[in-house]
Amino acid sequence: MRLTGKHIVLGVTGSIAAYKAAILLRGLVKEGAEVQVVMTPAAKEFITPVTMSALSGKPVASEFFSANDGSWYSHVDMGQWADLILIAPATAATIGKMAHGVCDNLLITTYLSAKCQVMIAPAMDLDMFRHPANLSNLEILRSFGNLIIEPAEGELASGLYGKGRMEEPENILEEVVHFFNQKKKLLNRHFLVTAGPTHEKIDPVRFIGNYSSGKMGYAIANALADSGAKVSLVSGPVHIKITNPNITIIQVESASEMHELCLRIFPEADGAVMCAAVADFTPLSYSGSKLKRGKDELTIQLKPTNDIAEELGRIKTGKQVLVGFALETNDELANAWSKLKRKNLDFIVLNSMNDPGAGFAVDTNKITLIDMDNNQTVSELKSKKEVAVDIVSRIILEMERKTSQK
Ligand code: CTP
Repeated sequence: MRLTGKHIVLGVTGSIAAYKAAILLRGLVKEGAEVQVVMTPAAKEFITPVTMSALSGKPVASEFFSANDGSWYSHVDMGQWADLILIAPATAATIGKMAHGVCDNLLITTYLSAKCQVMIAPAMDLDMFRHPANLSNLEILRSFGNLIIEPAEGELASGLYGKGRMEEPENILEEVVHFFNQKKKLLNRHFLVTAGPTHEKIDPVRFIGNYSSGKMGYAIANALADSGAKVSLVSGPVHIKITNPNITIIQVESASEMHELCLRIFPEADGAVMCAAVADFTPLSYSGSKLKRGKDELTIQLKPTNDIAEELGRIKTGKQVLVGFALETNDELANAWSKLKRKNLDFIVLNSMNDPGAGFAVDTNKITLIDMDNNQTVSELKSKKEVAVDIVSRIILEMERKTSQK
């Protein structure tokens, strides 16, 4: 039994696929999980609470209050009790409500009260699934750190064929098991992650920046947290919002602020992933008042910033894992290798600006992992979330290797 002792809230919503929730519930219980089913009012049109309570061995929660005795289900208690909230099937309506905090049923209030990981298995017709409203709601949920179990392509209840079919219960069950297995591996570990660009101030209204969106660094912070680690995420200015109880976000603006915080945090950490696109130069002097337009050319003198990764590489102990990134436009492998050596990294993640779909702002990435023996592992184009999971798996291997060496 692979889920013994795990507390799972299974949210069921009003979709034809609700019958599959019964099969999923049976699988979860067979693996030893304690499951509290929460059904939306619409879900009960598709499958009865009697089936679900019989399979879970617990009354199904659905209304805020019991019509019989006025007792109420505490969504706060359920949210805190759960190690995982799994919503399968999740309709477009539920996904929309989750994204925007519309608490008109017990499932959404439980979701908003939860402190644990949330997994969502969407189920809907193909046109509903690919509607921009639904896709942007899913994007919002991803930005909250929720895991989306992508629907499969196949025959839909409407008779149409396409993407929207809820993933099969046995595959969802494997995702749940994988989540708990992976989660354990970095329990009690602490990681520093840097993300985003830095802004180097010229005057009160201008700065030198770069195109980094922070997406890769935030995805790594989420993947580390999903593996059980505590994460200190030192982030430059980005437009990403995440709430994950395992992630502490420390907002900074400049390279020197990032430098100071990293040097403070790293000695207490088990490792660091340096994802930020740190400015290499900063203005030599800051003008306290706005620089005025003039007829002459303006020269701004720049001075080099501290190389944070290189400094961490110097103080790194034998037990700490240090990972860097290299975004290159030419001589990619040679440049990345020399950065790994110079900064004393355990491995470096190389992105090439020449690969379509890699680099800043996009949601995908194509990476080559290079380790200290110059072994190169090339991956295909993947979502940044998947890339983050791969990088974290590699970090776990490195940690295990270092621990076994002592
Ligand atoms: N890095 C850092 N501090 C800096 C510059 C870079 O911590 N001041 C880190 C990045 O987060 C990344 C790695 O070092 O993990 C490589 O960054 P990159 O900008 O590719 O390399 P640089 O050393 O700045 O070299 P160059 O800009 O000349 O390519």
